[in-house]
Amino acid sequence: MPPKPMSDSDMRHDDSPEQGASPVDPATLIRDAHDLLRRNDTGRFVKPSLGQYPHQWNWDAAFIAIGLRHLERARARDEVRHLLKGQWADGMLPHILYPDGPSDYFPDPAFWRTDGRSGTPFATSGLTQPPVLTTAVRMLVDDDPDQDAARAFAAETFPALLRWHRWLHAARDPHGTGLLAIVHPWESGNDNAPRFRAALDALEGVAPPAYRRRDQAHVQRDERPVAGEYDRFMHLIGLYRGWDWDPGALYERAPFLVQDVAFNALAHRAERDLRALAVALGHPTGEIDAWLDAGHSAFEERLWDAPGGLYLGRDLRSGAWLRENDVTTFLPLFAGVAAPGRAQRLVETHLRDPSAYARGTKIRFGLPSVAASSPRFEPRRYWCGPVWANMNWLVLQGLRSYGFDADADAVRRDTIALAARSGFVEYFDARDGSACGSRGFSWSAALVVDLLAEASEGAPAPGPPPPDPGSR
Ligand code: GLC
Repeated sequence: MPPKPMSDSDMRHDDSPEQGASPVDPATLIRDAHDLLRRNDTGRFVKPSLGQYPHQWNWDAAFIAIGLRHLERARARDEVRHLLKGQWADGMLPHILYPDGPSDYFPDPAFWRTDGRSGTPFATSGLTQPPVLTTAVRMLVDDDPDQDAARAFAAETFPALLRWHRWLHAARDPHGTGLLAIVHPWESGNDNAPRFRAALDALEGVAPPAYRRRDQAHVQRDERPVAGEYDRFMHLIGLYRGWDWDPGALYERAPFLVQDVAFNALAHRAERDLRALAVALGHPTGEIDAWLDAGHSAFEERLWDAPGGLYLGRDLRSGAWLRENDVTTFLPLFAGVAAPGRAQRLVETHLRDPSAYARGTKIRFGLPSVAASSPRFEPRRYWCGPVWANMNWLVLQGLRSYGFDADADAVRRDTIALAARSGFVEYFDARDGSACGSRGFSWSAALVVDLLAEASEGAPAPGPPPPDPGSR
């Protein structure tokens, strides 16, 4: 891929400790990212990281494919194909695939007890993750110079993607509310985000099966979820495996049932991409149109908190809002579902607030995963405050599609500067840009490659055309 020449402003972070640091040229960054992706590649799938995450994860595979398509397009397609091998007989696409059996990662494959239901050739988890894979497939198809190959790939993967989305609606919105529910915080991809805390605290009779977590062997304790939360994560898995992962039982009985903004925004965007694939393949779109129409109105009616000017999720068990100002509030822009006035308010009131998401006294790099103004902001703990490359990538695409180009450019610049400064780590401390979590993290590398591949600063990334706010 010919790297875009990088302007000084890409690398320099004015008034930050990095000022004066030697600029890293994009070709070096891309080469380092490619080396990392090769190192993490088993030949069949790319591990999120070698030590901490040695299996295949669902939305990781999507982000990895998005970046890899600039480097090795055929390999990027195989990443998608491998993930689809883990699809359950009923259409569910699990969040972890264990094709190589156990490792020192916990939960180990046997913990989930999914064999009776999955019908897959290897063990998988019983939960799902946001369907970014559908968006990745569309991106792979749209900008492929070989449109015959692209069309063949679309035709090959579309049926499995459609089955997954059908499963999502049947299993997670059986009463047709228009919004999908998650049954575990891990399904959002933001495992221990504080927005789930009240719903977790409300769980009664927490009795997790015996377990021993191993994540702290790889990563500092203060950068990982706390023990009480982990017990609750395991308690939920214990219940669901006891119900043999029956989707009907889960929806009706799960004590954790949440309509999450991140999950619904990513699913809505994915369904717009699924529709585009259907159109390209000459497949009827009526079913997808109905999901999109219902999703759009339910999103705007149920998930917008007018007093705070934030998109917030809903706890279906208690009826309460998931009250937390976190970075996922901007994802409806990526979905193209936010009314323009609401998008404007989000950006002006929150994104540009120097006490929350913008560079100011508290943080020097955006975007913190939780607003720095939140009492629950913890700058180094996992999804409680650090900057994540995938969140930045999703938010900046959304900003751009709504015309907030300068804001999108700032997020892009910070993401690249963080990787140049601290490497392709799992997450970053927003105060000083220092490294947190796993080292050598695949999606950080892949998404920085995608950002560097943008044709010119301010121009939309190659891939899906900008959403059309206010309509499908
Ligand atoms: C953690 C993250 C999740 C990710 C996985 C593998 O569980 O919270 O989003 O998919 O690690 O990287």
